Amino acid sequence: MPSSTSVSETLLGKVAIVTGASRGIGAQIAFELAKRGAKVAATYTSPSSEPSIEKLMERIFTMESHREAHPIRADLRDPTAPALIVEQTIKSLGPRVDILVNNAGCELARPAADITASDFAHVYDLNVRAVALMTAAVIPHLPPSGGRIINIGSIGGRSGFKDFSLYCSSKAAVEGLTRCYAAELGAKGHTVNTVCPGPVSTDMLNGIPKEIVENQLRNTPLENRRGSTDDIAQVVGFLAEEGSRWVTGQTISASGGHCMW
Ligand SMILES: NC(=O)c1ccc[n+]([C@@H]2O[C@H](COP(=O)([O-])OP(=O)(O)OC[C@H]3O[C@@H](n4cnc5c(N)ncnc54)[C@H](OP(=O)(O)O)[C@@H]3O)[C@@H](O)[C@H]2O)c1
Repeated sequence: MPSSTSVSETLLGKVAIVTGASRGIGAQIAFELAKRGAKVAATYTSPSSEPSIEKLMERIFTMESHREAHPIRADLRDPTAPALIVEQTIKSLGPRVDILVNNAGCELARPAADITASDFAHVYDLNVRAVALMTAAVIPHLPPSGGRIINIGSIGGRSGFKDFSLYCSSKAAVEGLTRCYAAELGAKGHTVNTVCPGPVSTDMLNGIPKEIVENQLRNTPLENRRGSTDDIAQVVGFLAEEGSRWVTGQTISASGGHCMW
């Protein structure tokens, strides 16, 4: 699906961090924020993703208007990574961080009876702890007002899928963090929201059983299709902008109406 065109430069001069920006939804969010004028720090972790992060940089650098972007390689399961990411962002794009998109995430299909402590850490260290530690690292560098924190949850956070207890519960936790951060940061005019995609064609979706996805698509009122990465990036783009200033603590279903709440 082509990305939307002719967006005005509503984020000109803003500095954004997008985690997990080498592939899938995160890459499209990074591109969309850059298109709207932001300087983007794009994080990734796998050496095998070097070509795709370079491709993203190329797409951003060759936009009609000059754009700045910076790739940062860091493993967000390492609790020291968030401080390093913020430090590198300030150094290369600073002086502050206006927008944080906590997008990096992982899934794990595992029957409840087989879950080990290391499975729990694998999912929660990235899907929950990294969101908390990235947020903690960014807060001192937010602008005096109007900062934006956008977390990527999942419709799984409000559903129950066989064998996905760790993933679904981790995304429910992201919603909980979002509401508390919104309460804490609201006095300064910063907003915090969660965007919950339904099925989107990315590498991650390949790990979800076909019958779950087919059932979701049958029950997706808008065109019975999967979401595109651009469908999600447009919602994030809006939440990053000034025009979303009265929206905070919300969990937005970006699922073609598959989940309505
Ligand atoms: N796709 C869907 O249908 C769907 C539905 C609902 C919610 N979501 C959520 O949307 C977000 C993005 O999903 P996606 O489908 O785009 O995933 P994806 O294609 O699997 O991409 C995952 C991204 O996260 C990064 N990442 C993975 N492990 C990391 C780590 N330890 N440290 C730092 N970065 C790490 C990856 O970097 P490398 O390339 O370096 O590995 C990659 O950039 C996730 O939070 C996911 O839960 C996706």
